[in-house]
Parts: sequence; C-alpha cells; structure tokens
Amino acid sequence: MFEYGFFDDDCREYEITEHFPPVAWMNFLFNDKFTAIVSQSGGGACFYDSAATGRLTTYRQEHAVPTDRPGFYLYIREPDGSFWTPTYEPVRAELDDWKCRHGIGYTTFEARRNGLEVTMTLFVPRDDGVLLWDVRIRNTRREAIDLSTFSFVEFNFLQARRHLQEWHWCRFYTSFRYDTDRHAIKYDYRVFEDQPKLKTFMTSTDIPVSFDCNRSAFIGRGGSLDQPEAVARGRLTGSELPVGGGHGVGALQCDHTIAPGSEKRFAVSVGCDKSWQGVDALIEKYQNLANIDTALDDVQAYWRDRLDVFQCELPDKDMQTMLNIWNPYNCMINVNRKKSMSAAVTGMEKAGVQTRDAMQDSMSLTSINIATAKRFIDYILSFEYPSGEYPSRIDPTLDEPAESYAIRSDNGVWPVYTVHGYTAETGDVGYLRKTIRYYVENGQPTSGTVLEHLWRGLKHIHSKRGRTGLPLIIDVDWNDNLYMFNEDHKEESVMLGQQLVYACRLLIELADCVDGAEEVTAWCQSVITELTDILNSDAVWDGAWYRRYLYSHDGKPHLGSSARREGQIYLNTQAWAVISDTCSDGRDVRCMDAAAERLGTPFGLKLLHPAFTGIPEPEDPLYNNGPGIRENGGVFHHAHAWGVLAETRLRHGDRAHEYYRQILPNVASHQRGADLYVNEPYAFSSTTLIDPCPRAGEGDLAWFSGTVTWMYIIGTQYLLGIRPTLDGLILDPCIPSDWREYRVTRRFRGATLHTHVRNPKGVQTGVKEVRVDGRVIDGNTVRDFPAGGEMQIDVVMG
Ligand code: GLC
Repeated sequence: MFEYGFFDDDCREYEITEHFPPVAWMNFLFNDKFTAIVSQSGGGACFYDSAATGRLTTYRQEHAVPTDRPGFYLYIREPDGSFWTPTYEPVRAELDDWKCRHGIGYTTFEARRNGLEVTMTLFVPRDDGVLLWDVRIRNTRREAIDLSTFSFVEFNFLQARRHLQEWHWCRFYTSFRYDTDRHAIKYDYRVFEDQPKLKTFMTSTDIPVSFDCNRSAFIGRGGSLDQPEAVARGRLTGSELPVGGGHGVGALQCDHTIAPGSEKRFAVSVGCDKSWQGVDALIEKYQNLANIDTALDDVQAYWRDRLDVFQCELPDKDMQTMLNIWNPYNCMINVNRKKSMSAAVTGMEKAGVQTRDAMQDSMSLTSINIATAKRFIDYILSFEYPSGEYPSRIDPTLDEPAESYAIRSDNGVWPVYTVHGYTAETGDVGYLRKTIRYYVENGQPTSGTVLEHLWRGLKHIHSKRGRTGLPLIIDVDWNDNLYMFNEDHKEESVMLGQQLVYACRLLIELADCVDGAEEVTAWCQSVITELTDILNSDAVWDGAWYRRYLYSHDGKPHLGSSARREGQIYLNTQAWAVISDTCSDGRDVRCMDAAAERLGTPFGLKLLHPAFTGIPEPEDPLYNNGPGIRENGGVFHHAHAWGVLAETRLRHGDRAHEYYRQILPNVASHQRGADLYVNEPYAFSSTTLIDPCPRAGEGDLAWFSGTVTWMYIIGTQYLLGIRPTLDGLILDPCIPSDWREYRVTRRFRGATLHTHVRNPKGVQTGVKEVRVDGRVIDGNTVRDFPAGGEMQIDVVMG
C-alpha cells in the first residue's frame, strides 16, 4: 500500500516524502487574527481575520494537484542559469532529497540539490499579522557559490469573491509599489465600500537587489510561474503598479555568496496591518533575525503549553498520536471554521459564527484553551433573543445576527452542553450567575444570568411542539438536509426531543450549583418525565429502533421507519436515545445493535439506510447529496462519533473503541489506503463516502467538522474516562478488554494529575479502587486539586 509520509511523534510532526499525495495535504499556521494555510508543495494563502474579507494572497483550491497553486515560493537560481524551488512546485526541477514536515504551528521544507541544502520554515508569530519564511541555505560544495533567491507571492483583492468576480475593475482600485527607504513592497487596497482596507507588505531581512510588483513583468510574455522570465534572466525588472491596472505580485530578489561549508540565513515576511504606521513597525521588527528567532520560540512554547493539558501513553498508538498531538491541534483550528478556508473549502461563504457549530467546537477548547472557549460562549449567549431563540448565524464584523438559509431548531441545546463542560472543567460555578444581555434590536435592553439564558433556550424549544408532543423541526434540526422533507412545518424531531432531555439533565446539575434555582430543576424534571414517555411510545419506537422524523399526518410512513423503502433507519436517534438515557425495556442495547447491523460498514456507521435515490420513490424528494454522500447515508463522522459515545454509555468498551478507530484519520488513511481515503492522515475528515456511491471509503472535507471536538471529548473523557464533572474529576474508563494499562497526564483546575490506570482482569469498564497520592479514596471522583501541585492517581479496574 502506498504511503506518502509518516508520523514523527517525537517531533510532533507529519513528514511528507512524496510531492503529490492524492490531494493537497495542508497545515494551518495562525494566531487569533492571522492565518496562513500551506500545502506540502508550498501552495496556500494567507488572510487577516477572515478568508472572505482579508485575503492577502491568491490560492486556487480546486482540491487536487496540480491546481494547488500559487503559494509561497522561493526560486533559487544558480550561476549557470538553472533554478529550482525547495517546495518542488512550481518549477518541479528534480531534487536529490526532499521532505515537507508539517508541525504544530509551522511547516518546514527541506530540499537538497547539487550540494545545496535548503531549509525553509513557514510560521505565523503569536501576535502579528505576518507570515514568516525562515530560510537557510547551506553550501556543501567545495567551492563558494553565488546565488540569487526570488521570493514570490501573488496578491489577492482582499475580498475573495471580488478576486474572482470583479477583478476587472478592482485592479484599478489598488496600488503596488516598492518603498526604497524600507526595502519593502507595499500593496494598498482602496475599494470604497470594503472593510477592512488592509495595508499589505512583503520584505526581507536581506536588502533586495531588485523586485517586481507586476505579474506580467515577472512571468514575461506567455510565461508562467514554473518558468518566470525574470527568474530565468536572473534579474527582476523593478516593475510597479502605482495606480493599479494589473495583477499585483510580490517578488524580491536577493543575491548571496556562500562560502563552502557555510550557511546563509535570511527571512522573508508577508503581512498586513490596518495602518501604514503599523506596517512600518512590522517591517522593522521582522527585518531583524533575532526577532524571528524569538517569534518561533514563542510559537513553539505556546503549542507545548496547549498540548501539555492532556498527554497519554496508550496501548493503541494511533489513538495516542491523535489525542496527544493532532486532535487538539485540529480543535484549535476548527473553532474558527466559518472564518477560514482550506484546500477544499473556499472560505468565500459569508463569514460568521454559526451558533451551534461554534458552541460545539468550543466544547473541546474548555480544556485546551479556556479563554477562547469562554469568549465564544459569552458571545453566542449575548445573541439569544428574549424569546429564548438563537440566530443560526452571527456576523461578528457587524455584531449582529445574520441571515441563514434555515432556522435550526436545535440551537438552544448546545449552549447547555458547552456551559456544563466549561463549568465542570473550571469549577467556575460563579459563571452561572454572570449577567449577559439578550439581543434586542429595538426596544428595552434586557439581560439575565447565564443559567437563565440556558433555561430560556430550552423553554423555547419546548414551546414549539407538534401533535405527538415532540419538538418541531421548523426547518432543520442537527441534520441540515431535513428541510427537503418539510411539508407543513409541523413535523417533529425525535432527535431534538432526545437532545432536549439530555440538556435538561445537565441543566439540573448546573441549577444545583446555584441558590434559588429550584424552579429550573422542577421544570427540567417535568420535561424529562413527559418526553421520556413520548419517546418510548409507539409513535416513536418502530419495533426495533427509534424513528427519526415524524410527519404531522398519517398519510406517509415517518422517516426512520421500517415501513419505508428508503430512509428506514437513522443513526442519530439510536445514539441519542442512549446518550439521553431515555430508553426503556432494554431498548438501548437493541437500538444500537440495530444500528450496528443495518448501518455498520468497515468505514463507520452510516447516517441512514437505505440512502435516498430520489427516483422512483414518489414520496421522497430528489435529494441534494447523491446516495451514500454526506447527509444522504454517508458515514457522517460527527454522527458516527455519537455512536461511539453511546457505546461507551452502554459500557461496551470493545465496540466503542472499534468504532472510535474507524474514523481516526491515521487509521483510515492507513487501512483504506491513502489513495482511497485521499485526505490528510493527521486531520479529521467530516464524512466518508459510502456505497452506493462508487468511491466508498473516500474522506470528504478535512479539518472542519463537529467530529473534531466530539472525538476529542469522547476519546479523553469517555474512553479513557478522565472526565470533568461538577464535583471534580471522575475516573471512569471504558476501554477494550485487551488493554492492561495506560497513563494520562492531565492539567486540571490548576493541578497536574499523573494517572496510571491498570486493568489486571481485562474488563471493559468498572473501577475497583482509586488511590490519590497512595491513599485510597471513596468512590471514583477526585474532588480536591492543589493549585500548582502535582498529584499521582492510581486506578485499578475490575
Ligand atoms: C454540517 C453543519 C452542521 C450540521 C451538519 C449536519 O457539519 O455545519 O451544523 O449539523 O452539517 O447537517
């Protein structure tokens, strides 16, 4: 089986050794305001704040090589006129040795050709809107060499849509010039109605001997990026576009003489600020190599600190690699997904915060990056309307609710889950009493405590119910595709009913931490009782599993019922039946067994079965996604993860772990083969295509998905079972029976906990004894955590 690279866990890197994997394999280099994406061949773009409105450089993302261009290129020209690029692209000159190392917060290219060794590390410093290229060229030849280097980017009209749709007039609203005093290219964007109008620059620690700002001058007549005329000639032309009119690029030429056995180091920076003063300060800062060293040290220290929150040693090395390194990294990238782009996401959609996605993405950050999680939680709660409804999308540039294609009826459950996670992680129960505004467009401003916000959100869902007594779907619930089945907007969601019960259970726990919240508890308890009855009634239980979507009339069989030809069974209502603990009479095991039997595949659990074909079944709509794709019966990893969670609730460690592994990207890429799976082995895909789609096994859309956060939480808290609760930290493993021991170091409420779990009898779950610093405790919850202290926790299962 062909592999394109391998994991180097000691260095926390994935090393790519082939120029062209099946699709571009990316890395994300970012701080809170600036992001660069870069592929294994140097393709990529950088943007300030949002990929839709602040895109500094151009990238054509048609998802596959060779269209993974342009990017961040360094042409190296030798005295004989030959030239090459350490990224291989775009010149594709043969190299003697090459690798691309995607690390945590940086990407390094290493290339060797004719005795020249080039190392180029790209990274984004912690605080500035800059992409840095740290370049070293070592001459291992016997004689000195005179070289020219040409660093290159192609600038974008900042608004990504304009670049494609309106470049013909936008190009006259820009200017690109060379500032001879500061040795920097400066790009000014002046489209009147656009914000932000960023000021962009490119400079180098070595003073350039020449430059180009005009793409035509750089590539030459009939030229291209693989053979730019100016590079071939050995001299850039000094072109500018002072009043626009062309396509702006940044190309800087530096000449170097490198003695035998010695190394030349220099750095290039591309970045932006809102003012020219700010730009000049950045130019000065990053023309100094010492500042570049400090910036890289800071990036590495930052990531060490984030990942040190949770480190484990497991018998399953694939799981270990993901939990220690790539899953938390992916969580940090995923949280800003609606402002971002990737090789397969254009980033041109209206940016914004998708309420429910961002709430879920923040769940994993409650441990990895508490401040960011809290910022998102506060922000989203402050957009709840007094009615208890949340907008589905918020525009953070305007600080307003934004239009969305559909009303998502489930928006109100996620804040309860995430606030519960935050409170359990931090122990900050005072947060529940914090006052936050409700969003009122015109009229009297109102506010309420966090606890009231959460309660109102649930009451809103409960207030809109259908004839069976379950919540209305309105347009869609978790499943964005269900709107295609809407007939009269009186359809009910079984999944949302289950989620409401689960939210009520968590809200009771939260209310218990707040004086005088008895009314909340009583309300939640009555909803749990009421809905649990309905959820087990014949209207919902189909005989062997739970239905999914109830029509408001008896004319058609409901979605998720065996009376249908297509869409007979759905995964979500089996998994959530168990998660919400609403099953009676052993139906929990039965429904998950039904899911295993009918939805199970070697690649994971399908979202539904059989997929909709649209034809010839008259009662079904012509579905957007083809059969076996995404919500139409693909393996939807986000939902699959809930299948894993449900199996841990059933205490089935073997099966939970088997399911968990199915969608780990390293396992999927290796077992299915990278050519079938296609996506990065180190970043979660959002779905897997499945039969009847002929490309069964292919991963779709890497990096951005609710999968990322849930897999992290399920892996750390439910399989390894080290789970924050409002009382402390519970030790509650649910693992494969052939694991004999594992270790976890976890930072929690200011302390560092070293946990050693032993499983001498080979059980899947159950804790016999917990010792804290050698002393046996009652039960399996640790309650006291000395701030700044270290604790040894020994767990014996059995
Ligand atoms: C996408 C959406 C998410 C939705 C899911 C299922 O991941 O971002 O909000 O729940 O699809 O439709």
